[in-house]
Amino acid sequence: MDLFERPRRLRRTANLRRINCETRLSTDHLIAPLFVMAGSDAQEEVSSMPNQYRYTVDRLVREAETLHALGIPGVALFPAIPEAQKDATASAATDPDGLYPRAIRALKEAVPELLVMTDTALDPYSSDGHDGIVEDGVIVNDATVERMCDIACTQAEAGADVIAPSDMMDGRVGAIRTALDAEGFADTAILSYTAKYASAYYGPFRDALDSAPVEGDDIPADKATYQMDPANSDEALRELRLDLQEGADMVMVKPALPYLDIIHRVKQASDVPVAAYNVSGEYAMICAAGQNGWLDTKATALEALTAIRRAGADTILTYFAKDAARWIADAA
Ligand code: PBG
Repeated sequence: MDLFERPRRLRRTANLRRINCETRLSTDHLIAPLFVMAGSDAQEEVSSMPNQYRYTVDRLVREAETLHALGIPGVALFPAIPEAQKDATASAATDPDGLYPRAIRALKEAVPELLVMTDTALDPYSSDGHDGIVEDGVIVNDATVERMCDIACTQAEAGADVIAPSDMMDGRVGAIRTALDAEGFADTAILSYTAKYASAYYGPFRDALDSAPVEGDDIPADKATYQMDPANSDEALRELRLDLQEGADMVMVKPALPYLDIIHRVKQASDVPVAAYNVSGEYAMICAAGQNGWLDTKATALEALTAIRRAGADTILTYFAKDAARWIADAA
């Protein structure tokens, strides 16, 4: 053939491919989500998430030390709260001696440099399994935001570096910023779950925390009145505009793989760093196919994480963080 351009020339050797690689996956970008539960010296594997555990605080600290030693910059913490402690207003979430603040303090004491990001939402503590207060079948916005401010301050007081509201109530970023500043936490950052979709991919996470919406007459069965419609894209930019106006330091798109277009659009429009959450269902799918011998887990996970970076994510919250840090170190 009489071809003038032959793109394959640059793919011929490993070093040619190496110098022309456009996207690097580094441990610098990875945040590990971790689940914490009450008790001591115990851990329970999440049935739908191989190798992911609910840890008691002492075990959580050991895991955090391992992650820190691997070069992972931070963790995102999620609490498993016993059913008996849940109620309609998530009151356990503002107990300064509760499981979550204790876990944050233990992490900051043992590994001060490791960033602790919180999940700020009512659902792990809600007897209704919703991210907000439910009144007559409606998730009420403004009363929920008031609770969110108290929860954020409880987490900041315990030493959290980054407050991450994951509830999708309107106006919560600005309200939390004002509350944090008023309480003397001007240096505590906010990572907003800016475009959080009403996604089926959260299933394994809700298993991990037993936090799915409960069945009941006046309790909506899904989160569609606050989380976004998977069919929408412009709406993500509207949420971005509001979060930036309200003072978000970082913004996040969630889930990641089915929403690479959203990550791309948000990155184009944002002047703050963009995170993406490679969620529980994305992790479970790759692990399940890997266990069946249908996919190569390592190759698929690294490809997925690279694609999320390529789409525009500066940071990735991923249950593959520990594995990926090891794979990246092995390859170096
Ligand atoms: C709840 C919250 C959820 C996740 C993070 N924070 C679940 C939900 O909204 O129902 C999901 C994370 C994952 O699936 O890995 N505020």
